[in-house]
Amino acid sequence: MKILGVLGSPRIGGNSDILLDQALAGARAAGAEVEKIVLCQKKISGCLDCGKCNTTGVCAIKDDMIDIQKTILEADAVIHSVPVYFWAMTSQMKAYLDRWCAFFDGEWSMHKAYRPKMKGKKIGLITVCGDPNVSTADPIIHSFKTTSEFARLNWIGVVQATAASKGEVAKNEAVKKEAYELGRKAATP
Ligand SMILES: Cc1cc2nc3c(=O)[nH]c(=O)nc-3n(C[C@H](O)[C@H](O)[C@H](O)COP(=O)(O)O)c2cc1C
Repeated sequence: MKILGVLGSPRIGGNSDILLDQALAGARAAGAEVEKIVLCQKKISGCLDCGKCNTTGVCAIKDDMIDIQKTILEADAVIHSVPVYFWAMTSQMKAYLDRWCAFFDGEWSMHKAYRPKMKGKKIGLITVCGDPNVSTADPIIHSFKTTSEFARLNWIGVVQATAASKGEVAKNEAVKKEAYELGRKAATP
């Protein structure tokens, strides 16, 4: 099993990074090979809606998302981890998600060539918000869960945490365990 972790926070060593590492540790403990992509260290432009990928299945923008798309295809599961920025996901994560457009044809069906590798791929999510009410992250969950269902992927769930200062979530053993279990679930057939 190959498990891919995608970090949407620009704060390296921050709360979503810590929880993503927990999830990847859980996946590794379950015997998986893991890889982590830190989006803020990549060059990923926003989707231009040029429509070229509708026919080719490959984005016309030649940046790091080309290789990331290949890595997603090869992964059995993808776990995303992202903080709430103004009641939404970070710009790094949104640019990445919009580029998933390349998986689809002009009718918003998964390109035939990608179906065998995408169908049933496990998708998980970790959210962190400063607000004590974790449901502040619900719009992000809606976005990822609906995208997963729309693309016929296998939504495996979400871990929602509250933490404000850098690394604060490290004290929260319960949510770290939840993230670890999400990783185990991703790596368990
Ligand atoms: C630009 C910006 C906007 C934010 N907006 C929100 C928000 O709307 N709601 C909230 O609960 N927390 C908000 N936060 C707080 C972060 O979600 C919180 O600090 C989180 O722990 C950051 O996670 P990280 O350490 O993984 O980067 C915001 C932080 C920043 C920097």
